[in-house]
Amino acid sequence: MAVDFAPRPTPGAGSLATRRLVLRPFRLSDGPAVETLAGDFDVAKMLDVVPFPYPAGAAARWIATHDENRDGGREYPFAIEREGELVGCVGLNRETDGLFHLGYWIGKPFWGHGYATEAAHAALAFAFDELGEGEVKSGHYADNHASGRVMTKLGFRYAKESMRFSKARGHAVRFLDTRLARAQFRR
Ligand SMILES: CC(C)(COP(=O)(O)OP(=O)(O)OC[C@H]1O[C@@H](n2cnc3c(N)ncnc32)[C@H](O)[C@@H]1OP(=O)(O)O)[C@@H](O)C(=O)NCCC(=O)NCCS
Repeated sequence: MAVDFAPRPTPGAGSLATRRLVLRPFRLSDGPAVETLAGDFDVAKMLDVVPFPYPAGAAARWIATHDENRDGGREYPFAIEREGELVGCVGLNRETDGLFHLGYWIGKPFWGHGYATEAAHAALAFAFDELGEGEVKSGHYADNHASGRVMTKLGFRYAKESMRFSKARGHAVRFLDTRLARAQFRR
């Protein structure tokens, strides 16, 4: 594997740096940007828990839960920042079966630059190397081909199909569950 000596953004405490991005804890002041970016229907409809329209103030209330959940080892949500601007979100949430679920979104103005793949790669390296996980789960709605491509590039494999309720769409949608074992992770 080629070693990349390119300068990286300097991360702060609890943050991760990639070639172009900083993954950092959310701040309450990110709320309005989250509501604008994740409140776009083309983003919200691909996520199960994001409402549409995104109510004013709801993002700050969500961000206010992060410290306690992170301290309890239940959730590791990262704001994805490019040159000081919020471009999206990537996170790991521990599910009832004990495995972390990887989730992400990128604001529509920032699609198509490889940011989701780069940020998800960093979050997975954090899960495997820092948290010591052996396997991570994820998945996408069957009509979300871009996310399927992101997962395939990272090494995820398809596990099963289910129906999952999309809050924004207001109905259940075919969902493809994926899994990534540490050994299959494409570094
Ligand atoms: C899915 C999403 C995260 C991708 O973000 P992104 O930063 O544009 O992703 P990347 O650039 O890293 O990779 C996207 C890949 O999908 C491909 N792609 C994009 N649209 C596609 C489509 N309609 N069909 C197939 N592939 C597609 C791109 O070409 C790229 O693959 P490549 O590197 O082989 O060319 C972004 O579109 C998004 O946030 N969507 C709404 C929320 C969401 O879907 N979150 C994930 C829920 S599972």
